[in-house]
Amino acid sequence: MKTQAKRKIKLPPTFEKEYRSAFGEYIQDGGEGALGRAYELGRRAITEKKSLMEIAALHHQVLREMLADGQRATRRQELSATGAEFLAEILSPYEMAHRGVQDAIVALRQLNETLEEEIKRIAYAVHDEAGQLLVAAHLALADFARELLEPQKERVERIEELLNQVEKQLRRYSHELRPTVLDDLGWIPAIRFLAEGVSKRANLSIEIKTTVTGRLPGPIEIALYRTVQEALTNAAKHSKASRVWIRIGRKNGTFRCSIEDDGVGFDVRAAQSDGRRRGLGLIGMQERLNAIGGALSIDSAGGRGTRLLIQLPMEAQNANPHRTR
Ligand SMILES: Nc1ncnc2c1ncn2[C@@H]1O[C@H](COP(=O)(O)OP(=O)(O)OP(=O)(O)O)[C@@H](O)[C@H]1O
Ligand SMILES: [Mg+2]
Repeated sequence: MKTQAKRKIKLPPTFEKEYRSAFGEYIQDGGEGALGRAYELGRRAITEKKSLMEIAALHHQVLREMLADGQRATRRQELSATGAEFLAEILSPYEMAHRGVQDAIVALRQLNETLEEEIKRIAYAVHDEAGQLLVAAHLALADFARELLEPQKERVERIEELLNQVEKQLRRYSHELRPTVLDDLGWIPAIRFLAEGVSKRANLSIEIKTTVTGRLPGPIEIALYRTVQEALTNAAKHSKASRVWIRIGRKNGTFRCSIEDDGVGFDVRAAQSDGRRRGLGLIGMQERLNAIGGALSIDSAGGRGTRLLIQLPMEAQNANPHRTR
């Protein structure tokens, strides 16, 4: 009985091989077909996560080999000009992707601004409208208490005390939601105010050390405040920590802010993987920071606590088109 010949699996040509072949075709015959191959190669390079430096190095290498080839060397100028056209076509998907990212960043900034406006509206509604309702409740209770005898009056007083606490908490929440101190004094005093509240509510010791002073452009201060706010909320909600440290400073032209806790830690990869992600906090922090040209790194593992590091290059602070101060 004949043994069946093993079927060979045909692998697609490697990127480098395909590059040489398409480049050769374009140099040889020119034409739209070869340029189309170049464009497809550019798209493939993006999917294969090739960096621009890798593409440039490969192009340089292939061009050098062609120039070293005796027959082609005489067409040196023509070769480099045609090569430049080919390279431009390969890079055009990168250009489009870059524009897409720029557009997404602008959209994200606008979305953040809209969200901030909405948060402001809710904060004022909680502060003013709920505050006024509580005043009305106080007045109604006082009116009611006038008709009561002493023992019942005491019970009404107890209700008034509870209402006072509700009012205090609502004021606190509305100020944390959109602290006026953020607009008036900046994000660092606003973080101190926030930390004070979280510390009391979650029974956490929060230490803040900063070597920077002064203000940053408005949208940057808001993004930093919101990021630290989420980091503190997460520490209070998930970490079981007893201490949190916030450090703010500058290093090598980069603005840095770290938030560290001594809690239970977590598996960062698993929490961020598409299938298992549940919350919006970590992704929201990353998006807010991306929108202002910054980045977030997270260092955590079970039992080792968590350290978040926000980094923002100084140029990003100056280049921010939303600069308001
Ligand atoms: N400081 C921390 N200590 C321990 N675990 C943390 C800490 N920060 C985040 N995590 C873990 O990472 C997960 C994702 O956090 P994320 O902020 O994205 O979502 P969430 O807090 O669960 O929900 P949301 O922020 O949408 O209210 C959390 O559910 C928690 O398991
Ligand atoms: Mg969260």
